[in-house]
Amino acid sequence: MSLLEAKKALGKKAASLVGNGMIVGLGSGSTAECFIASLIDRVQNEGLSIQTVSSSRRSAELAEKGGLTVADINDIPRIDLTVDGADEIDPLKRMIKGGGGAHLREKILASASTELVIIVDESKWVPSVGRGKLPVEVLFYGSPATRMKIEQLGYKGHWRLTSDGSIFITDNGNLIFDVEFDAPPHLPEQVNEDLIHIPGVLETGFFFNLAGRVFTGYADGRVELSKGK
Ligand code: 5RP
Repeated sequence: MSLLEAKKALGKKAASLVGNGMIVGLGSGSTAECFIASLIDRVQNEGLSIQTVSSSRRSAELAEKGGLTVADINDIPRIDLTVDGADEIDPLKRMIKGGGGAHLREKILASASTELVIIVDESKWVPSVGRGKLPVEVLFYGSPATRMKIEQLGYKGHWRLTSDGSIFITDNGNLIFDVEFDAPPHLPEQVNEDLIHIPGVLETGFFFNLAGRVFTGYADGRVELSKGK
């Protein structure tokens, strides 16, 4: 079984948690997209009646194309259940997100939700977050000065580019500064504190104390509820 099959199994499991009448937050990324596909399937074939809100333009487009109702987040103060993927998750359920550059909106949905359900394939589990890069959304206005402040604190990194080499712009019209660690930081919470107070830093990709149930998908097709490892 392939990674894609594992993601599809995760999407199906997460879609089975959605009940009639719920307001559902849609995450972003390839695993969240498998959830959206399964949700569309349930709405089309089981008559499930729900409203959704989306963390990205791309997820909204997929959902609308499949016939889901995507409400304006500014009309929705509270979400029942949000389902999203992650780039890294550790045994304390600390996560790094933002591989797709959607972590600011994803965090808004997560914190407005009664539960954030995370779906990850087994490769996303790490002993401690910070194996890879940490996406930081930076306001376009004054971004060189903001970058200098980040670097003065000792954090190295680069502006994210698209595959054609142009600067990556988020759905919010901002930049992503991808911080690179030599090794996972001992205190990710301190790194977050350092960065989040710099004017112009809008959000880091660290997600602490937000994950509810976490489902892990394996290459053999199994999906397990993970308590943390
Ligand atoms: C997007 C995200 C995604 O959830 C994260 O990058 C995981 O993506 P994928 O499921 O494609 O591995 O945070 O901003």
